[in-house]
Amino acid sequence: MIGLYDSGVGGLSVWKEVYRLMPEQDYVYVADTAYCPYGDKPVGIIRDRAVRVSEFLMGKGADIIVVACNTATAAAIACLRSRFEVPFVGMEPAVKPAAAMSSAGVIGVLATANTFKGELYHNTLARVGDGVRVVEVVGEGLVEAVENGQDATALLEKYVDRMLSEGVDVIVLGCTHFPFLEDTIRKIAGPGVAVVNPAPAVARQVARIASAMKGGHPSAGESVFYATGPAVRLERMAAAIVGSKYNNIVERLNI
Ligand code: DGL
Repeated sequence: MIGLYDSGVGGLSVWKEVYRLMPEQDYVYVADTAYCPYGDKPVGIIRDRAVRVSEFLMGKGADIIVVACNTATAAAIACLRSRFEVPFVGMEPAVKPAAAMSSAGVIGVLATANTFKGELYHNTLARVGDGVRVVEVVGEGLVEAVENGQDATALLEKYVDRMLSEGVDVIVLGCTHFPFLEDTIRKIAGPGVAVVNPAPAVARQVARIASAMKGGHPSAGESVFYATGPAVRLERMAAAIVGSKYNNIVERLNI
């Protein structure tokens, strides 16, 4: 069983990729919507939520936990790994592959404030060659827009234009909510700019760990979704990804 969580629906962009590779697995997904957004919350709260949600996922039988949130990965993955034995897979800011793709030597990263503050991000930056310039833009308001199903075009124009004016030719989606805005981002950025979503690479990593673990309990190919707060959006988006069999299946979770 694979457990995944995010502050809200963003992690569905990761679940979708993992599910595509392994539809036969069982999944349990937690949207911590009572605490969403994580992007500008104190790190201590995000860490606390990470521990609580992980304990819940393990209680449900998760053999692997995917921290399907860049912000939570930045704030809490080291703490989770030191505390629990189950393997944790987090979101890597895809700065390195983006740098390799860039001909201009200028890449843009769109993420939350807390992701940019994280040690993980700074270590990743240190591995990018000197010849590449990274333009960091905090996507303020975008997580809320995805959670509420609002149009984010005006905000994205502001953020993407800022990157374009700096000459970026690759944009990294540094938050798992942003793949749901990818079409608009591509439209604004134009055909000369590549957009990198790290979710497929993360999904391949989950599949590698899962296949090395073969021999666990037999799976039935079921996905169960929980929300600690508002659930309407989660229900709608999960259903849109895998079809109507997932209507009305979001359970309320009090942790
Ligand atoms: N999906 C989360 C991420 O990847 C969003 C964080 C938030 O809730 O602000 O960073």
